[in-house]
Amino acid sequence: MPSSDRFGARRVNEMYRQGMLEDETTEFPVSYDDLQEAAHEAMSEEGIAYVHGGAGSEETFERGKDFSAWRIVPRMLRGVETRDLSTTLMGVTLDYPVVLTPLGVQTLLHERGEIATAEAAAELDVPLCLSSLSSTPMEEVAKTLGETPKFFQFYWSSSDAIGKSFLSRAEQAGYDGVVVTVDAPILGWRERLLERGYYPFLEGEGVGNYFSDPEFRAQLDEPPEEDPEAAVEHFLDIFGDSSLTWDDLRFVRENTDLPIFIKGVLHPEDARLAAQHGADGVGVSTHGGRQVDGSITAVEALPGIVDEVGDELDVTLDSGIRRAADAFKSVSLGADAIMLGRPYAYALAVGGSDGVSTYLRNFLAEFDLTMGLAGCDAVTGIDREAVRHESTLGSHC
Ligand code: FNR
Repeated sequence: MPSSDRFGARRVNEMYRQGMLEDETTEFPVSYDDLQEAAHEAMSEEGIAYVHGGAGSEETFERGKDFSAWRIVPRMLRGVETRDLSTTLMGVTLDYPVVLTPLGVQTLLHERGEIATAEAAAELDVPLCLSSLSSTPMEEVAKTLGETPKFFQFYWSSSDAIGKSFLSRAEQAGYDGVVVTVDAPILGWRERLLERGYYPFLEGEGVGNYFSDPEFRAQLDEPPEEDPEAAVEHFLDIFGDSSLTWDDLRFVRENTDLPIFIKGVLHPEDARLAAQHGADGVGVSTHGGRQVDGSITAVEALPGIVDEVGDELDVTLDSGIRRAADAFKSVSLGADAIMLGRPYAYALAVGGSDGVSTYLRNFLAEFDLTMGLAGCDAVTGIDREAVRHESTLGSHC
């Protein structure tokens, strides 16, 4: 799907034509609310608890979806016949300013898990960031992605040997960058999971990268295929490290030549520290409201972080993006790209690979139309002039 011709309009025409001429409306939900509803019908209770759930009262999760304080100010008659949606992130040119965010344990959503997601990403050339906690080993996902830009999300292990091995496997498998998630050194208070006493990793889900890792396997008495319970116990022992400090980023820097992105930053000073410790970019994120209940939201944090490091580092935003307008506002506020989360998870639950690809077509079409209607012909040209904060609306217009 070339980014420079009017695919937004094409997608709309395709959908109308399908309804009017072929008397066949799309069965796939178009609005996000309908998509979530359809996904919840298709998913197990445990799956819903894992994916939907936020931390504590879920206030951060709920507020994070509200981008309405920022209003797009469309400009007219600017000649937007061809629109360039491309951008660059970690030195890689992307066709769209959209990356599929790392979501662990995708077999909870669809039996083909990350492979189905990767097929859709490869079909549309939408970059994917694979979680350390994927159900499928990183090499298999990389193969499915082919030439599509790919990033590997790194979770620390208390075993340096496993950490090193993950970083080297990601490089060998052809990933374009390492995304280090720093906002989950310990798991947040997630009541939906606690109420059910459900934690997917205890069932041996989401450990594909660990069970296939030579260093992890070398630390076991029996291979995971022979003693899965002991392997799960070992995973729980080595996963995460809450003693980490900024200086520990040196470990990642020393063990990979790939660009490093720090995901989960909400304070401008942390963005500055990321820059000082050799990061190439920062991801502004609340982890989808799953970690600190009551925290600032990603879109609230974004302008301050862009002001601090936007000239030096790449910046992404995730947590709460549901619609193209949310993405447009984020790009206007200085994000080089946005990361999509739960919406593609739900598309995967509803329709597997086809579901993710249909959802992405719709999302990108809506983004393309929003951009054109706002008077912008290139993603890299969208700036803060394109939005106003509601607190300033009384002053003129
Ligand atoms: C996540 N997220 C996440 N982040 C990460 O760095 N590694 C991971 O393994 C996971 N796993 C994960 C599973 C599920 C089910 C969810 C919902 C989220 C956080 C994720 O990358 C992203 O920050 C959020 O999903 C963004 O919030 P929204 O937009 O999905 O609400």
